[in-house]
Order: sequence, then structure tokens, then C-alpha cells
Amino acid sequence: MGEPGSTKFQTDLRRHLRDSDVERNLVMLICELAEASKYIINSIRTGDLGVAGTSNLYGEDQLALDVLSDRIMQKRLKNSGVVASVVSEETDEIICFECEDGPCYSVAYDPLDGSSLVDVNLAVGTIISIHRGNNLLQKGRDQVAALYILYGPRTTLVYSVGDGVHEFAMNHLMEYTLTRENITIDNSGGIYSPGGQRNLYTSGTEKYVLSLEESGHKLRYSGGFVPDINQLLMKGKGVFFYPHLQGRPQGKLRMLYELNPMAFLVEHAGGAASNGCKPILDIEPSGIEMCSPVFIGSSKDVAAAEEFISAE
Ligand code: AHG
Ligand code: MN
Ligand code: MN
Repeated sequence: MGEPGSTKFQTDLRRHLRDSDVERNLVMLICELAEASKYIINSIRTGDLGVAGTSNLYGEDQLALDVLSDRIMQKRLKNSGVVASVVSEETDEIICFECEDGPCYSVAYDPLDGSSLVDVNLAVGTIISIHRGNNLLQKGRDQVAALYILYGPRTTLVYSVGDGVHEFAMNHLMEYTLTRENITIDNSGGIYSPGGQRNLYTSGTEKYVLSLEESGHKLRYSGGFVPDINQLLMKGKGVFFYPHLQGRPQGKLRMLYELNPMAFLVEHAGGAASNGCKPILDIEPSGIEMCSPVFIGSSKDVAAAEEFISAE
């Protein structure tokens, strides 16, 4: 890996994808998504922070920013000509597009994860999962690419096509240039991010938290899935979980466009992602609305969670 500041680190996203022999239509698709992020940034910085007056298929109130970000993404994906179908956190069903010149791809995305944090000026992100062909209900292990864009103090994009995990930062010209290549996550340590209401944790999860505290893990939780996962990847250690809760056995996070893409990235960085008993990437999605408990990050910390959950 070159030194930051060397020519390698002037590499832009398109060049990096091409140098990695990524298929031409997939290069174009990922670059289109990177372009879409520039319009989402603008809507976050200046857009309406109010509610849209509608709700998503989880019955959650949609913010104007959710709907606007979704429209920005859908338009780009439709016009790309290489996308056969899409589904997002803000759509009630799978939407089909014209894809003339194959290979075609299907995209599941969360256009603005953590949108309720924008009005308190915390970091939010866009999460994207890409499959080959027109079937969006494939297992996460069959994804051909996953990426997220993090709108924080810096705007960064992290992607993997299964050949390492790489970070790009947006420069003053709004171009994404390489900042970290082949990111890896250690097998344990550092921080833990406990999602969900603590008083609804089951006994196994409660014991797991105590064990993390006893081993010196520090609590770091922003309430935004993208910055919380990004922190584990960039610090190279730690664990995030949004577990099964009393009265909410499937937890909150959504398989297709939150858990599968993040699990793909974390596994390709050497980490692990589990629903408490099996890898997230090996779970057959039952439908577009599927949610699952998740323990994701350093492999030993995730394995420890599985121990406590299996013993409960
Ligand atoms: P979204 O804003 O797309 O609905 O997702 C929010 C998610 C995720 O970002 C975060 O990890 C989780 O909600 C936090 O949930 P709680 O507010 O229940 O902690
Ligand atoms: Mn989300
Ligand atoms: Mn969202």
C-alpha cells in the first residue's frame, strides 16, 4: 500500500475500479451512485428538515430528506441503463427498470440512513447493496459489491467488490480520491456500540455487554448505523450490535439494504457479522421487509456474542 500523498493516493474512484478489473457496467453503476451522493449532500446541507407526511413500509414517518434522497438515487439508477430492479427503505415494493445492454444489476439501498439525526447535526449515510441480475432476494454472500457514503465532517465513500475494502474522501472539487486501501479489522477490542433499548435486552445480551465492559471495551454509539460501522472499520476493531429485544425478536435493522451491505464490507475487512447464531451473509432473505438482529465487527467479539446468545 502506497504512502498517503503518493500518486497512488491521487487515484480517483473510477480509476481504482478499472485498475481492479471490475466489469465495465459495474464501474459505471458505482460511479453513478457516487455522483448521486453529491446531490444528497446538497439536500442534507440545505434541504427541508420536516416530515414528508407519509410513512415507509415499516410504518415509520418519512422525512422530506428521506423522500428527496430516494428520488435522487432512483433517477440515477433508472437512467444508468444497467439496472434491472431496485428496492429501498423508502419504497413499498421492488421497482423494475429497463436494462438493455447487459450485464444488468439490481440495487438495494437506504438513501439516507439515520435521517432523524440530520436536525441535530450528527453524521448520516447512504448504504448500497449490488447484486448481479434481477433477483434482489439473493443471500448477502452473493452480492457483487457493497458501499456506503458517510456524510460527516468529511464525506467519505467505502466500497468493496470482494477484493479488499477501500476508502475514498471527497476533495474540494467533489471528486472521490483514495485515502485507505485494503482496510482490515482486528479480531477483538476497543469499542462497542449497543443499539436498541437496554431494558429490553435478553439475559444473554445483557451478560455479553457486561463481559465487553469487563474486558475494557468503551461504549461508542452515535445512533447512526453508517458512522458507527465506519468507526469500527477505520479504528480497525470493536463491535456493533442491534440485538433481538424482548417483544421485538427480529431487532430493527433491515437485511437487504443495511445488514447485507455492511456485513459484506466487514467480512471482506476480516471481521464477522452474525444474527446471533449464523452469519448474516448466509441468511436467505424472506422478503424485502426482512429485519434481523445483528452483531457485527471484530470476529472474536462477534463469536463471543454467539456464545452468550446460544446459552440464553
Ligand atoms: P434509518 O434512519 O434509515 O431509519 O435507520 C436508522 C437506524 C440506524 O441508523 C441505527 O443504527 C438505528 O436506526 C438506531 O435505532 P435506535 O434509534 O432504535 O437506536
Ligand atoms: Mn436505515
Ligand atoms: Mn433511512
